[in-house]
Amino acid sequence: MTPPPVRSICCMGAGYVGGPTMAVIADHCPEIQVTVVDLNAERIAAWNAPDLTCLPVYEPGLDAVVARSRGRNLHFSTEVDAAIASADMVFLSVNTPTKTRGVGAGQASDLRWIEACTRQVAEAAQGHTIVVEKSTLPVRTAETVQTILSASQQSGDGTAKSFSVLSNPEFLAEGTAIADLESPDRVLIGGQDADALEALAGIYSQWVPSERILRTNLWSSELSKLTANAFLAQRVSSINSIAALCEATGADVKEVACAIGTDSRIGSRFLKSGPGFGGSCFQKDILNLVYLCRHYGLVEVAEYWEQVVSLNNWQQRRIAKLVVQRLFNTVAGKTIALLGFAFKADTNDTRESPAIRIAKDLLEEGAQLSIFDPKVSTEQIQRDLGVPPTDGDSSWKQATDPVLACQGADAVLILTEWNHFNSLDWKAVSSVMRRPAWLFDTRATADKQAALSAGLQVWTVGEG
Ligand code: UDX
Ligand code: ADP
Repeated sequence: MTPPPVRSICCMGAGYVGGPTMAVIADHCPEIQVTVVDLNAERIAAWNAPDLTCLPVYEPGLDAVVARSRGRNLHFSTEVDAAIASADMVFLSVNTPTKTRGVGAGQASDLRWIEACTRQVAEAAQGHTIVVEKSTLPVRTAETVQTILSASQQSGDGTAKSFSVLSNPEFLAEGTAIADLESPDRVLIGGQDADALEALAGIYSQWVPSERILRTNLWSSELSKLTANAFLAQRVSSINSIAALCEATGADVKEVACAIGTDSRIGSRFLKSGPGFGGSCFQKDILNLVYLCRHYGLVEVAEYWEQVVSLNNWQQRRIAKLVVQRLFNTVAGKTIALLGFAFKADTNDTRESPAIRIAKDLLEEGAQLSIFDPKVSTEQIQRDLGVPPTDGDSSWKQATDPVLACQGADAVLILTEWNHFNSLDWKAVSSVMRRPAWLFDTRATADKQAALSAGLQVWTVGEG
């Protein structure tokens, strides 16, 4: 028997995952009403702004997708209970950061938001509701979600309700979210209730070929998400470790990456050396994996994965250190331009951005930072740095274009691989800098010859 069709979806959490994912579902399934809810009224107002350049999430192509469905079958609202009550399916897409205190601090995920919204679903749902875990969660969270929901089924408050829980991890990468959602390598759905599983598969099958829709048990689905991110992050730490060796030996990490990437067993993607990985997922998911391994007494396995994060921290720290060393071991009072603050190109997201730690280390040394990023706001930079523009000897300011950022600077650091920085006018940049002037290209993205010809000294990650 085919399960009843899903006519109404509620997504809790209008962030980097919930917003774009629901916009794409609404676009492909015009017969389903999709309501994205959030407690943050300002965020919801931004999703509803008539001017599509004001959306709270910057993603190439997102504005067009939102424009097609918003007001038709895509809605953004703060009326959480009403949206849950009318939904056949509720996606949980709220934040799950690493705990900062208490048991598991620094490693385990803080599940307070997921628990709060599960309780809200338990309270407000009507009839049968399929609850889909979309946030990255520790393995066996579905069990917690299920327990909370079951308690409400038994509460006997007069209304008959029932729930099925599914895990449907998100594999989109920021900056390419729309392309990843439109044409995913795979969609993964974990669960025990075959009807619920097919109901969700039926939604994706509107645009994803059936062979790409994988079905597993709940725990495999949850663990696959952590494992995918751990493997990807491990590749970045691996290539960053080799970059340091290249710098020491005279090899070039780009050539090494190309040489090993042509081996089809290795593959060419995710082999770009940089300032270390950032983003909301990699570090959090590995730490989750580490916590899980320790919980099950797998100390060696925990230590193995922990090393991927240690290497990443080391990479971020070594870049700030080598900048100080090249600038005659002091940056106190010197202007340093930072080009890029987002954790990668084509997003306004700065969560765990390597730029934050590098900037903080340089401020600690007394530098005057001049920061340019095409999409990150001054308010966000202030939140990330945690200090006002002037703080003791050090200071920071945001510049409105890359050349202005370099005015009077001794060094310019490229920290995000925005396209803007591939074709910079190095003559113009060099003419406003103080000599000797340095370019530190942590993404190996600049036109090195042009920078050298303009009189800059150049350090490129992974180049010996
Ligand atoms: C990641 C996963 O790719 C995605 O599947 C998951 O759903 C969420 O986490 P995201 O963090 O958005 O996505 O971006 P990703 O492209 O994976 O980049 C993560 C970090 O690694 C960035 O800081 C990026 O600059 C860095 N990176 C990536 C490198 O330094 N080198 C590479 O070759 C690739
Ligand atoms: P992600 O990258 O996983 O999408 P974000 O932090 O961008 O994470 O978005 C998560 C969103 O979830 C935030 O906008 C936050 O306000 C929202 N949120 C947290 N708890 C709840 C809740 N109980 N109900 C609705 N929205 C919530």
